[in-house]
Amino acid sequence: MCGIVGIVGREPVAARLVDALRRLEYRGYDSAGVATIHEGKLDRRRAEGKLFNLESKLAGELLPGTIGIAHTRWATHGVPNEENAHPHFVEGVAVVHNGIIENFSELKDELIVDGAVFTSQTDTEVVAHLLAKYTREGLGHREAMLAMLNRVSGAYALVVMFQDDPGTILSARFGPPLAIGHGKGEMFLGSDAIALSPFTNEITYLVDGDCAIITHDRLEVMDYQGRPVTRKSQISQATAFMVDKGNHRHFMEKEIYEQPEIISHALGHYVDFASHTVKATDKAIDFSKLSGLAISACGTAYLAGLVGKYWFERYARLPVEIDVASEFRYRELPLSPTQAALFISQSGETADTLASLRYSKDEGLKIGAIVNVRESTIARESDAIFPILAGPEIGVASTKAFTCQLAVLASLSIAAGRARGTVSEADEKAMVKHLAEMPRIMSRVLNEIQPQIEALSRDLSRFKDVLYLGRGTSYPLAMEGALKLKEISYIHAEGYAAGELKHGPIALIDENMPVIVIAPHDRFFEKTVSNMQEVAARGGKIIFITDEKGAAASKLETLATITLPNVDEIIAPMIFSLPIQLLAYHTAAILGADVDQPRNLAKSVTVE
Ligand code: G6P
Repeated sequence: MCGIVGIVGREPVAARLVDALRRLEYRGYDSAGVATIHEGKLDRRRAEGKLFNLESKLAGELLPGTIGIAHTRWATHGVPNEENAHPHFVEGVAVVHNGIIENFSELKDELIVDGAVFTSQTDTEVVAHLLAKYTREGLGHREAMLAMLNRVSGAYALVVMFQDDPGTILSARFGPPLAIGHGKGEMFLGSDAIALSPFTNEITYLVDGDCAIITHDRLEVMDYQGRPVTRKSQISQATAFMVDKGNHRHFMEKEIYEQPEIISHALGHYVDFASHTVKATDKAIDFSKLSGLAISACGTAYLAGLVGKYWFERYARLPVEIDVASEFRYRELPLSPTQAALFISQSGETADTLASLRYSKDEGLKIGAIVNVRESTIARESDAIFPILAGPEIGVASTKAFTCQLAVLASLSIAAGRARGTVSEADEKAMVKHLAEMPRIMSRVLNEIQPQIEALSRDLSRFKDVLYLGRGTSYPLAMEGALKLKEISYIHAEGYAAGELKHGPIALIDENMPVIVIAPHDRFFEKTVSNMQEVAARGGKIIFITDEKGAAASKLETLATITLPNVDEIIAPMIFSLPIQLLAYHTAAILGADVDQPRNLAKSVTVE
């Protein structure tokens, strides 16, 4: 979701700003723009669509200037066209914004009565008009900024330049992240540290309610009353190399193939590979004393949480209440301080997940964050942090973050089971041993199934609708398979609990709707095979994802059977994730879709 960059530089900045925007492309966007101040005048180039459209404009009409701001926009208010693209200019004020100004409509009416003429449909433009109005009324830049911040409400990262001050950029954060980069005689700001990584690794993260002013060599942070606040800088580990595709065609493919190595690294944080025991986790949450867990997340992270529910309930006998965060936050769910709440988020910035966290905190629960970005807001507002250590995930469709979330949830459920006396020492050893073997099995599976999946994806790409079925932990996987396929290939797909087939989706089964059945040879196998029979009896085409035992046991005719090694139940969801990820990936690639940046989707959803 929108990316922001700014530079107070010594050399021309336009090319560097666009270069930094490229590192924010993964967040999702549908237009882009850049503005500089040169010889006392603001100028800008904006373009609909991808960054190369903006670059072509810049190649045709150079944009000089050693100070500038730039933006990739993910449309919320107003269509993604050039007029709505940021930066917005009003009377010598330039503004870029990530988030939503919730009271924009009321402010706009007031400004129009005052004579303001709006040139876009965005909520952002009210910010530029307010700043222009306060400047006209005689306020200095800093005072105008503070006055504006005291009028707007909602979620925002805002970055502002004034034409008559070509040495200063003002900014504010209330919701979406904003990082300040300290250079040598130059200062930077961006939506994350990766965007700034070629320029500097010394980063100061702003927190909600901060207003920051940068000049060539200085950062000043204050609250909205103008009272100074201190924010320490830190050395960021982010490097531009992290956003390199290597030999892969897409980031998604690279991230799928990285999984064995990354998951092994992540597991090393939670289990001891030598003694086959779980390591002590963040002590802020004591699983032995809990009456229950509440889990909330969005998208793929929610589906990881759903697998986690099965594990916590089965292994730790801990009841789990789980919901998508956009519902959780408003459900007025009765919670008790004897429960703990877990929030799962790759980015750690998802607005609905953060709001659910704050709700649970107000109810007195201890808060745990299963996050990838450790500096994120969700991590900072939690009592216990469980990092998934997946490294930056650039593909909008989550892959390695999902399996790392699962690995962390599996480890935590075993740890919780030990703490609660529901998992014996022998069971702990056995399960951790399986987890330790998982990276090797993942490597083998990725190599073995790739050619078959690529060929199968050609068939799948010809269909318009696909149904995924699974039982137990394979049910959330069926939903994740459907989510992956629809978000990147645009083929309509639904994930269902296999037992629900008879209660609706069976009406849709014919030769035009393939059914992908995810069924390891586990406790539910026979039941799922009965559901497959119901599909076959109606002429449905089956793609069967199973293991060696399952393939040998089923006599049904299938369009394809993908056979994985026999693995223990605790690692099956991670292993079975691989074929569903690859199937979605190859199908989308065959269809020529924009795999890493699917239309209308954003990586980090910082608005409701
Ligand atoms: C967006 C992304 C998904 C992600 C979801 C939750 O929809 O496209 O890949 O699963 O947000 O994001 P989070 O950062 O909270 O895991």
